[in-house]
Amino acid sequence: MNTFTLIQITDTHLSRERPEFSGNFEIASKLIGKVKPDVVVHTGDIAVEATARSDDLLFGKEAMDSLDAPYYAIPGNHDVGDNPSDHGYMPPKPVTDALVQTYEDHFGPDHWVIDQAGWRLIGLNAQLFSSGLAREQQQLDWLVETLASADARPVAVFCHKPLLRDAIHEPVDVPYRYVPLVNRGPLVAAMDAADVRLFACGHVHQARDHWRGNTRHVWCPATAFTLPDDVQPRVGDKRCGLVSYRFSPRGVEVDMQFPAAMHHPEADVLRKVYAI
Ligand SMILES: [Fe+2]
Ligand SMILES: [Fe+2]
Repeated sequence: MNTFTLIQITDTHLSRERPEFSGNFEIASKLIGKVKPDVVVHTGDIAVEATARSDDLLFGKEAMDSLDAPYYAIPGNHDVGDNPSDHGYMPPKPVTDALVQTYEDHFGPDHWVIDQAGWRLIGLNAQLFSSGLAREQQQLDWLVETLASADARPVAVFCHKPLLRDAIHEPVDVPYRYVPLVNRGPLVAAMDAADVRLFACGHVHQARDHWRGNTRHVWCPATAFTLPDDVQPRVGDKRCGLVSYRFSPRGVEVDMQFPAAMHHPEADVLRKVYAI
């Protein structure tokens, strides 16, 4: 049968200068080398903090290039800066055109489409939402066209941030955690024109697998670390890992994996790297 295997990794938070999380990446890399998927998708936060230290992005690229599989990537807030969000939230390090351009110089386009095994797989730059950059509208126009031309094919969307916590319209939980409420309407309208069966994200550093309507929402566990409950409320499963997918014309199998060898850095390590 026509199948396509994909491993999603996310939130590797890599840096030559802050190598605290490189060990877990090596474990993911070995697993990828064993499985040899058709493709790896990195759903962002490749770097510890590329907005402050551009070498983090280069180091992340060197790490991704070392994988024994072709890969696609999309940016996270630690790669290109964060987007403004609900209730006037302004991030301390906002996304800029220059940061996205630098990211694209390393990893190629910040949004992309792959057609395989009867599916259309779409990668989106979540950091553009509510940014007001010209790229934001260009990406939305591209998405509308790319979803409309999917015809009867099922679609999987990969995006750094989750679309929602529990519902499209819901009270604001943490403004920087999800796709902003104001952007969900146009996004959902575009997705409703197609058969979107999977919405796969990273960013939260918690694993979760839940359904809304016909769409399965998969929160990929972070490679690098989880956050203590006093810093971040628990919504899903706080373990490090990755997700393996097998796409076929009959559907998609989802296998969330938590390699026992991945270690969970203590809070004082996170405080050193991120001053949380
Ligand atoms: Fe992250
Ligand atoms: Fe993130």
